[in-house]
Amino acid sequence: MQTVFGEGDPFARVMFVGEAPGAREDESGRPFVGPAGQLLDRILSGAMGLQRDQVFIANINKCRPPGNRAPEADEVAACLPFLRRQVELIRPEVIVCLGRTAAQNLLGSTESTRTLRSGVHDYAGIPVVVTWHPAYLLREPSRKRETWDDIKKVNRLLGLPEVPGAG
Ligand code: URA
Repeated sequence: MQTVFGEGDPFARVMFVGEAPGAREDESGRPFVGPAGQLLDRILSGAMGLQRDQVFIANINKCRPPGNRAPEADEVAACLPFLRRQVELIRPEVIVCLGRTAAQNLLGSTESTRTLRSGVHDYAGIPVVVTWHPAYLLREPSRKRETWDDIKKVNRLLGLPEVPGAG
């Protein structure tokens, strides 16, 4: 097992936060490189006109939980200070939480992803948008439309032009 710290542009305007590395991420030491990561890449290019090296991608947990289970409270507590420091150093203009684990732990909330998707939240003065985790979108493609709407919200916050054909 190795640490998957996160990667991308240290001056990124937008930071994506997922849950924890999976098997592919653990093997490579890089976040979101498996099937969910490939979908994230397509969301970035298709809905934002960005490549992954123009954003910063990190996770709540820096190590893969055994058997892909959800991170446990003590693991999150151990890893969260590193994410907080990453946010402090990168100072993105917008943070996008991918799924419930990221949203609940960064925002200190117990609400569902469905509830947290509405509106824009705040973390340390930085606007936070919550959307579905790409792994969930692979299981429930009908939610892609809602993700597109969430990403449009991110684009508006960043002042990015509408990407033609993006939802
Ligand atoms: N899922 C996550 O939440 N993070 C990764 O890095 C890969 C899959």
